[in-house]
Amino acid sequence: MPQTELIKNIAKFGLENDQENLLKALEGLIEYSKQHKKVNFAIQLQLLLRDVIRQQDNSGLVKVGSPQYLAREEAREDGELIIDKLTSDYKFENLVCSADVKNELTYFIEEHRSIQLLRNYDLPVSNKVLFHGPSGCGKTLAAYVLAGELEKMMVVVNLGAIVSSKLGETSKNLARIFKRAASEECIIFIDEFDSLGKVRDYSQDHGEMKRVVNTILQLFDYLPQHSMVIAATNHVKMIDDALTRRFDLKLTFELPDAAHIKEIIQKTLQHNQFKFDFPKKLPAIITECKGLSYYSIQKTLITTVKRSLFAKKNKKTLPKIDTELWISLIRKEKKALLKK
Ligand SMILES: Nc1ncnc2c1ncn2[C@@H]1O[C@H](COP(=O)(O)OP(=O)(O)OP(=O)(O)O)[C@@H](O)[C@H]1O
Ligand SMILES: [Mg+2]
Repeated sequence: MPQTELIKNIAKFGLENDQENLLKALEGLIEYSKQHKKVNFAIQLQLLLRDVIRQQDNSGLVKVGSPQYLAREEAREDGELIIDKLTSDYKFENLVCSADVKNELTYFIEEHRSIQLLRNYDLPVSNKVLFHGPSGCGKTLAAYVLAGELEKMMVVVNLGAIVSSKLGETSKNLARIFKRAASEECIIFIDEFDSLGKVRDYSQDHGEMKRVVNTILQLFDYLPQHSMVIAATNHVKMIDDALTRRFDLKLTFELPDAAHIKEIIQKTLQHNQFKFDFPKKLPAIITECKGLSYYSIQKTLITTVKRSLFAKKNKKTLPKIDTELWISLIRKEKKALLKK
């Protein structure tokens, strides 16, 4: 059925309150979107549909202990443990990284695009990645790039909440999230993976940490090949060796060097035509930026652009980026970071 017909049907059944046919028409649109390379849109629609249906199932009075009651409790708990479910439009060109990281990520993506080929030769698919390195250097961004390039839904797990809120239930909660994610063929993104190390601090029960690590190892082993886990941490040393060893790929995201600083400046300015007032100062600024993360460089530059724009009296011509102002913001940022 053409897309216009599907939309007409959705409007008609929606207005007529005909839920059964409305759902069929929506499923038709999801299928159509998948076939026409609008996968992110299809996933978003699917999520919306599932959430509404779940909400309907969970509304109204239910008896304590009944299957509906348990399902409602489970959905509520999942809500606390999952921060977000999202799709992403980020692509490789958004990420600045070393040639080595780019290379590894490219192969990783290729593996997932060629799952069938690998299966034909009985070859395993890599699906567990660990990103580590300092804050603001692209770990979360790289996870978004994978989700965007592979057009997969991403479930962002709140590991801190899982570990701290219900000790003793960490293993059970993790297992539940993995099970659901596996059935939805998505990417599980576990940020702050080092929070697992805290089980040791919180728990009086010394066996707890071992149990949690064992659960994760098992979950990793049974993770279906079309699903994937991305874990990120700033403190890789806090994570049990037995766990880090299980990742198929471990990538370090480092602070940018001079060439990468130049690249992030270009990327930050690429969608507007702002120029620097004293371009000759750029090499000195790049030296000044050393030691800062991509995030800090981008943040101070954007602030400078905005303030240069406000300071401009003649609104008709384009403002020039005030390099002196940027240098002062960079120094301020460095000082603030030193105090932390
Ligand atoms: N390598 C990079 N390439 C391009 N932009 C980057 C890069 N690293 C960081 N940024 C910019 O900084 C923002 C924050 O980066 P991101 O969230 O990926 O950092 P992170 O490594 O996950 O930090 P944290 O450890 O604090 O979670 C990004 O959304 C992006 O705008
Ligand atoms: Mg992050």
